[in-house]
Amino acid sequence: MVIVDNISLAKYNSFGISVCADRMLEFENARQLEEYFSKYSSEKYPWYPFSGGNNILLTGNYKGTLIHPVSKRIEIIDSDDKYIYVKAEAGVEWDDFVAWSVDRGLGGVENLSLIPGYVGAAPIQNIGAYGVEAKDTIVNVEAYMVDSNNVVNMSAEKCRFGYRDSIFKHELRNRAIILSVTFRLLREPQFKLGYGDLQKEVAARDGLTLRNVREAVISIRRQKLPDPKVLGNAGSFFKNPVVEKNRMETLLEKYPDMPHYPAAAGYVKLAAGWLIDKAGWKGFRKNNVGVHEKQALVLVNYGGATGKEILEFAGEIKESIREKFGVSIEMEVNIL
Ligand code: EPU
Repeated sequence: MVIVDNISLAKYNSFGISVCADRMLEFENARQLEEYFSKYSSEKYPWYPFSGGNNILLTGNYKGTLIHPVSKRIEIIDSDDKYIYVKAEAGVEWDDFVAWSVDRGLGGVENLSLIPGYVGAAPIQNIGAYGVEAKDTIVNVEAYMVDSNNVVNMSAEKCRFGYRDSIFKHELRNRAIILSVTFRLLREPQFKLGYGDLQKEVAARDGLTLRNVREAVISIRRQKLPDPKVLGNAGSFFKNPVVEKNRMETLLEKYPDMPHYPAAAGYVKLAAGWLIDKAGWKGFRKNNVGVHEKQALVLVNYGGATGKEILEFAGEIKESIREKFGVSIEMEVNIL
């Protein structure tokens, strides 16, 4: 266990915001968390689970302890005729896990290539891209429960996964620290190429293989999404809004080309990127903050922006979408 006091977070968040935290705990296992929380009770000392800092907007210095996983083991724990069960620890870079799976010919996560972040954060917001979500392969999440000081194994059903959502964003918010995730990967890949240009990108390569799908996804992402190392950002800043069918029908009369996708009965999902684009924000810059020129769902830090500045800018966009379309868009990133 390593504890670092007064740590600069500039390198620990993909928005590249320059703030500090009182303390960061780098942990490897539940025993170390137990040791830490027996010294620093959670009632007295605020804490926050913090992995790659890829989906977070830091609005000021953090007066507490960031709990940061550093364990990076990936191991096969079981198998049957159809599946290989793989347990990855919370500190594994998500894309390293995808590469590991693709290298071994195991299917299920190839569409999720190049998503920034850690394995331990994947279940929290149920990361997703190109028609696949983390929940499709997760079988178990192992978590340390701070209040009761024990380790629980939660089945996928118990995690209550939804679109960019899970129990870890609600009842278990600031109560559970994810230790590892177990995935069920396919011995025989079942390709999902239905989303956007994926099929076309794969066809441009030499055959339908896991490696080619991974490369196609990487290529599409690189074309549309800014590299946080070059331009600070946290991927999609907003979630795609789910609205009642009636609202969509009214909007379609005015905007017949508006993209929409199926959701729960009576509802549809709209593309927040399209709405923000249509409202004229794409490529718009205000001081150090802007809307990415290739994907309107992504807010970028041109350098030196504060979290508050980005949050205010996001508020203006949200308000303008509400005014123009009567649709409320919610943030995908976590605010700390
Ligand atoms: N669109 C525009 N203008 C834009 C952006 C999008 O018109 O500036 C339109 C597109 O033409 C398309 C629709 O909106 O018709 C949807 O766009 P896209 O396929 O790019 O996906 P998205 O809904 O904007 C979601 C995820 C991404 C994920 C992609 C691909 C959310 C919040 N975002 O974006 O996830 O990579 O689908 O599956 O669900 C992330 O969560 O950080 C993220 C990048």
